[in-house]
Amino acid sequence: MQTLLGKHILLGVTGGIAAYKCAELVRRLRDEGAEVRVVMTRSATEFVTPLTFQALSGHTVHTDLLDPEAEAAMGHIELARWADAVLIAPATANMIGKLAQGIANDLLSTLCLATQAPIAVAPAMNHIMWSDQATQDNINTLRNRQIAVFGPAFGNQACGETGEGRMLETTELIEKLASIFSHESLRNTRVLITAGPTYEAIDPVRFIGNRSSGRMGFAMAEAAIEAGAKVTLIAGPVHLKTPPKVDRIDVESARQMHQAVMSQIDDCDIFIATAAVADYSPAQTHDQKLKKTEETLSIQLRRNPDILAEVAATGKVFSVGFAAETEQLEDHARKKLQSKQLDLIAANQVANHDRPDEDTGFNSEYNALDIYWANGHIQLEKARKTELARKLINIIAEHYKNKH
Ligand code: C5P
Repeated sequence: MQTLLGKHILLGVTGGIAAYKCAELVRRLRDEGAEVRVVMTRSATEFVTPLTFQALSGHTVHTDLLDPEAEAAMGHIELARWADAVLIAPATANMIGKLAQGIANDLLSTLCLATQAPIAVAPAMNHIMWSDQATQDNINTLRNRQIAVFGPAFGNQACGETGEGRMLETTELIEKLASIFSHESLRNTRVLITAGPTYEAIDPVRFIGNRSSGRMGFAMAEAAIEAGAKVTLIAGPVHLKTPPKVDRIDVESARQMHQAVMSQIDDCDIFIATAAVADYSPAQTHDQKLKKTEETLSIQLRRNPDILAEVAATGKVFSVGFAAETEQLEDHARKKLQSKQLDLIAANQVANHDRPDEDTGFNSEYNALDIYWANGHIQLEKARKTELARKLINIIAEHYKNKH
């Protein structure tokens, strides 16, 4: 099961006897390749010590909202952003009630309000508590808010009674958690993605490049795989691991990227151009290293082919562009949407002088996007690129389906 590979799982442990089973859960999640951070409520620490979870997860366990040491390691808002999914296991009736009411009076309930990641709860309690109308009403409220409810199962309970209220077994919890990341919105769809920068050679050792890390494109490839697509990723020079199941073609220059895209495009339904392609390349690439002889040096540049515009002009594939802008975001993005005949464009502000502390864009793990199409717009707030990519893939899938 590769869906949990590299995923950041925030495990919230609340005060029920089933908490002891979560020691095994952490182990198994790590076996699946997930990174796990554990948050415990006060009462959970009465059942299992934080040290157990610290040893198994390899990270400090967070228990207090106002613990300066834990906050210094990773603050609660950072933790909320870090998560790709939050799993609360076991989830007590009390925690379920707090989530339903939006109460934020401890670290875990606060994190649930502060995160944009999907949340799942694995209820565990006495069967009469589970069937109580208050608990059932709260559970329905959570379901209506798209919070996943895993279980509970029927069986023997710690209190000696039998009924519905046992926490699901570890294997079932892991399967259900993995299913959060895989859906079928792009089943039977072939997606071609460009990512990263391009390097335009001046001579054998020098090039013109840019600061693109490729993270957004790689996150898009991973999210498209999770949505059931067949994905080919054409990557410029980047230092990133290929996401599972993705076919990768490495290129260096804009012209090589152009060639690679054109060789693949006939087999594609959707083209997503996240690459920061150089608009110009040196008109002449010197065979030998240039020597510093003159006081000034001019390099003549020639326009590179616009890969995205060329693909979109064929009208055969659903085309999605990216636009990194330093000003007048909507204006520039809409102009590109029109001139390149795109179906969708995802725009982000780079080097925002009004918010110099914002860590988004080119070389960051975070981004914020404004998505434009002919008669609409949606804003995706700042989040990790992996989280944003999942949302953007869903938007693309919806528009692609509507078009066909
Ligand atoms: O025109 P501009 O470079 O700002 O457009 C950005 C979008 O166009 C991105 O999606 C980028 O991947 C794509 N692009 C391209 N080929 C180029 C230049 C940009 O595919 N030569």
